[in-house]
Amino acid sequence: MNSLVIFAVLIAVAIIAGTTAQAQDCQVSVTDPFDLTESDIARIYDCIGDRMVAAYSKGGDTVAKNYRGWTVTATRHVVDGTHGNGLLLTYANDIAAEQYLKFAEQGVVMPVGSQLAKESIRINATKNAAEVGPLTLMTKLETGASPETGDWLYGGIQPNGDPMRFQQASCHDCHKIWEGQDYLGYPIEEVRIGN
Ligand code: HEC
Repeated sequence: MNSLVIFAVLIAVAIIAGTTAQAQDCQVSVTDPFDLTESDIARIYDCIGDRMVAAYSKGGDTVAKNYRGWTVTATRHVVDGTHGNGLLLTYANDIAAEQYLKFAEQGVVMPVGSQLAKESIRINATKNAAEVGPLTLMTKLETGASPETGDWLYGGIQPNGDPMRFQQASCHDCHKIWEGQDYLGYPIEEVRIGN
């Protein structure tokens, strides 16, 4: 299996395990996330936003409880076709924010201790409803701690509060294409909030 397939399976498992009880309220009229308009996305977030933090925090994870207090890096959630077609929004911690918000493309070296947290919302086409998707994380380790992943530790929290389990390579095999950007994908340009 290639890493994309593994990632898709992981996300699917996380969704099934974690969100079955939470889907009732946030109805959507389209089933393909690419068909959502900006106002659809705003309405979905209005409905599900608070529930996301509650879901991620169920296991007591500190990042889950705190990331909404970090710096938001985009004006709204977007669907870009990765991360399981989720509606994605990334937050940067204080160590990461200044460099991240430059969205620089060459020679980027993120400071040790940088953390990025990407929350996600999924569209459940069977239920015509938005659901909480996984929170994915990247943490910059000490230089030399993990050469095969550019010293990043990939992590994630399922919507039931449990950690996601995956091979580091399943994330880095995709992120490694952004070598000049210290392996960061960045939000799409039209929604970036620069500093
Ligand atoms: C198929 C490619 C792909 C795979 C596999 C992938 N990502 Fe990403 N990731 C992206 C893209 C593209 C972005 C930027 C998308 C956006 O912000 O809208 C991104 C962004 C992120 C961010 C926000 C920081 C940044 O890069 O700007 C985190 C955190 C993240 N991914 C974690 C993970 C984790 C953890 C995994 C493995 C479980 C993973 N990713 C697997 C493509 C991928």
